[in-house]
Amino acid sequence: MNHTELVERWDRQQAAYIAHREARFEVMLGALELAVGTSFTAVDLACGPGSLASRLLSRFPEARVIAIDYDPMLLALARKHLAGFGDRVQIVDADLVDPLWSAQLRDQLEDRPQAVVSTTALHWLLPAQLVDVYGQVRSLLARGGLLLNGDHFRFDERTQHIASWAARHDSATQKRSFVEGADEWDAWWNLLGAHPDIGPLQGERTRRFAGRDASPPTTVKFQLAALRQAGFAESGTVWQLFDDYVVYGVA
Ligand SMILES: C[S@@+](CC[C@H](N)C(=O)[O-])C[C@H]1O[C@@H](n2cnc3c(N)ncnc32)[C@H](O)[C@@H]1O
Repeated sequence: MNHTELVERWDRQQAAYIAHREARFEVMLGALELAVGTSFTAVDLACGPGSLASRLLSRFPEARVIAIDYDPMLLALARKHLAGFGDRVQIVDADLVDPLWSAQLRDQLEDRPQAVVSTTALHWLLPAQLVDVYGQVRSLLARGGLLLNGDHFRFDERTQHIASWAARHDSATQKRSFVEGADEWDAWWNLLGAHPDIGPLQGERTRRFAGRDASPPTTVKFQLAALRQAGFAESGTVWQLFDDYVVYGVA
């Protein structure tokens, strides 16, 4: 299967787990334009195969993206997927758990980015790591720059009704998507593993992520407190659909 088809199937697979994923991207792109215009540099944290980066670069022909990830297989797919954008995109292999990733990136940049974006990714970080990453992002951003993070933030025991609606909504979205032909997570990874250039990177992927504990789910309140703790001048929620949110911070 070629890389174009793999990315299309990634998008369908992700949309099974994230209802209205395209609407969430659209909200983020609209907020970016309102906050920083159409000519800017954005960092895409934990970019995966480049779903958000490709939408951003297509929508804003004068924008540049620095796309960061630590998964060698997804980085390889992103390099193929984003190659057509030429020097408007730079792909960086970095671990967001490393306390120095943003300092190393800053050394390579002439100017600070006006935006940092991320989707469906930072929940992999432990809570203390997330606070650290938000702090690094705040220091990396140009003054007045925008952070946007779209992700699931879970409800706690104080909000059991909406937690149950969200779970039922998620499971209905998955059921419908899989009936319509979307791949489940593991099935998609088997397809990627069969790619002749990318499959051999499986061992390196396993080595890099070995021993990482799954993060406990965090609430949106925790996210907003983490943004304040990280020093963002203003923070809040741009969008919510049940337990799926886009939070923002202005540096
Ligand atoms: C579910 S994918 C989302 C990818 C993409 N942002 C999207 O919305 O399609 C989660 C991503 O987080 C990345 N990731 C997880 N931990 C990471 C870390 N410590 N440093 C960098 N990337 C990480 C994974 O490699 C993966 O690409």
